[in-house]
Amino acid sequence: AEPLRIALAGLGTVGAGVIRLLAANGDLIARRAGRSIEIVAVSARERGKDRGVSLDGFRWLDDMTEFAALDEVDVVVELVGGSDGPALALARKALAAGKGLITANKAMIAHHGMELAALAEANAAPLRYEAAVAGGIPAIKGLAEGAAANRIERIYGVLNGTCNFILSEMATTGRDFGDVLAQAQALGFAEADPAFDIEGTDAAHKLAILAALAFGTRLDFPSVDVTGIDRIRAGDIAQAGALGYVIRLLGIADCEDGADTARLFQRVAPCLVPVSHPLAGVTGAINAVVAEGNFAGRLLFQGAGAGDGPTASAVVADLIDVARGNVPPPFSLPVASLAASAPADP
Ligand code: HSE
Repeated sequence: AEPLRIALAGLGTVGAGVIRLLAANGDLIARRAGRSIEIVAVSARERGKDRGVSLDGFRWLDDMTEFAALDEVDVVVELVGGSDGPALALARKALAAGKGLITANKAMIAHHGMELAALAEANAAPLRYEAAVAGGIPAIKGLAEGAAANRIERIYGVLNGTCNFILSEMATTGRDFGDVLAQAQALGFAEADPAFDIEGTDAAHKLAILAALAFGTRLDFPSVDVTGIDRIRAGDIAQAGALGYVIRLLGIADCEDGADTARLFQRVAPCLVPVSHPLAGVTGAINAVVAEGNFAGRLLFQGAGAGDGPTASAVVADLIDVARGNVPPPFSLPVASLAASAPADP
């Protein structure tokens, strides 16, 4: 079979991880995908930087949006980040050109997912973003495959590794907020602007994506009610502990009555979690997603929510999906159903 030829935009931690993963596991990936997955072109802000991986044999483009015009590219992998700017310009152009788009960009999907899903559908181009939600955890695939037969009644979890690291470190070591945040930044899982983490925005991006998929509603990021952890003090954590609770920043969503955005409830807030609850045991830069299915019951997906290996693993799983065939997964943004149910023109 013909190889799936990809262009990689963004060569930070995750981009370098994708290059390493494809090199290390290329044979087994080719067997599972039914064809090999080959990087043909790359682009990033700086060309000369040492990333610990060789770029030999890949075509280099200074302007990543030009990937969309390359005949030799089947799928664009966007790992640049940012809700707008070059990432969005590239995403729009790639889908409009009928190329597949795989992205780890939660901010872009949270803000522009409906538009991109419509573009993907109109151009019969695959769009996948498993890596945008909870890093290496197959949360979207878990819903799409394992829970495909269920009505999802509620979805919630620990969706930001930086906040979870801060809260669990503060609880176990008594260190203060700023000190632990600096360590999260040094370890590389905080956002470029850590306000996105600690104010809850990053978790809200991921929650809005999960909610839309779980309930079949339109993606509605602006309606997420968000409180971050920036006002949590060491004393709050100690007080919670004395009462048998830990504090976790949770994203929680439910939808009263089927695919109706008006009935969608989405909140990100620090919550008291009883120490006996599985989410209390989720410590460090780990994410966990709980989905309650009406037949499957409570499903818990847990794993690394950030980092090069886990995030690259989710990106390449999406590439394997696309290599196997351009079928939208059962849990997708509801573009077609919305179009079908839209009121007719007066
Ligand atoms: N800053 C994010 C986190 C990275 O801490 O979870 C993964 O989205």
